[in-house]
Amino acid sequence: MGAPVTDPAFFADLCTDYLELCAVTEGQTVAILSEGRTRLDYADAFLAAARRLGARVYHVRLPERPPSGAWDVGASGLAGAPDVVAAAKEADILIDLVFLLFSKEQLDIQAAGTRIASVVEPVELLARLFPTVELRERVEAAQARLAAAQVMRITSPAGTDVTYRLGTYPTMTEYGYTDEPGRWDHWPAAFVFTGGADDGVDGTIVLSPGDVLLPFNTYVQTPVRLTVEKGFVTDIRGDGLDADLLTSYIRSFDDPRGYGMSHVGWGLDHRAHWHGLTRFPGGMGMELRSFLGNVMFSIGPNNELGGPNDTPCHFDIPMRGNDLYLDDEPVVRGGVVL
Ligand SMILES: [Fe+2]
Repeated sequence: MGAPVTDPAFFADLCTDYLELCAVTEGQTVAILSEGRTRLDYADAFLAAARRLGARVYHVRLPERPPSGAWDVGASGLAGAPDVVAAAKEADILIDLVFLLFSKEQLDIQAAGTRIASVVEPVELLARLFPTVELRERVEAAQARLAAAQVMRITSPAGTDVTYRLGTYPTMTEYGYTDEPGRWDHWPAAFVFTGGADDGVDGTIVLSPGDVLLPFNTYVQTPVRLTVEKGFVTDIRGDGLDADLLTSYIRSFDDPRGYGMSHVGWGLDHRAHWHGLTRFPGGMGMELRSFLGNVMFSIGPNNELGGPNDTPCHFDIPMRGNDLYLDDEPVVRGGVVL
């Protein structure tokens, strides 16, 4: 790995290793999806990588969409392209350079058995947090532990005390690659998550300085107190800027489902840094979702888990130094995975 990450040959090598990890073999079909001028160099790297492995490969480039003032998750350029969706359903793997997560089209393509890998992070991060089989095993061990639990409780020294009633939704993994039909993953990633019952999340969450607001891609600087009742955030309070920004952003969607409690879990990659956002502006924060011992809760849609909420308003909030209990047994204590 001596070459600079901007070297196209280096990136094509990396994508070859990645497709091998995704079990792409000779004769399989690799579809690549991009939009506008974004990540055309990624498409080139994957075209080269797939050909090296003897796979069939093609690249569909959708036109650029008009800019939106928010990260409206689930809105996808595929909504107006049923022919592209149909083609993707015939592929063995779709390399998603657009970020289709939470879209109806992604779920349809997965249901047809096509595995999907989203690749949108900076190349530096793709290289440094390259997925491994060992990491997958760690995430799957956590999945088994989480799937067996009935209740999750999260506490923190700042005053967080919130309980999720589990059992309604599946326990899901992200370990950065995918080799199973119909399974989605995101390069890079290493965390496990599930969701509470639709009316089964209650308590208080106190965000502390250093907790992370995604998609703002900022660190909380001033405490924020969230009240959660029956699966919805009912109050957001704080003296500083962060509470105002959270409130203003969610309110702008004018959608009560934007206050719903979504996925919850913890991060498992020892290579990922909590300070990662300070080094990779432009990324979407996968390093922060993945750093070892973060406890991440989320507000907004739960359709990824099979739930009814498909609001486009979505926050992921990885927190430091929290305790997480499953059925009263500590799994994370003070931000350390036990
Ligand atoms: Fe999320």
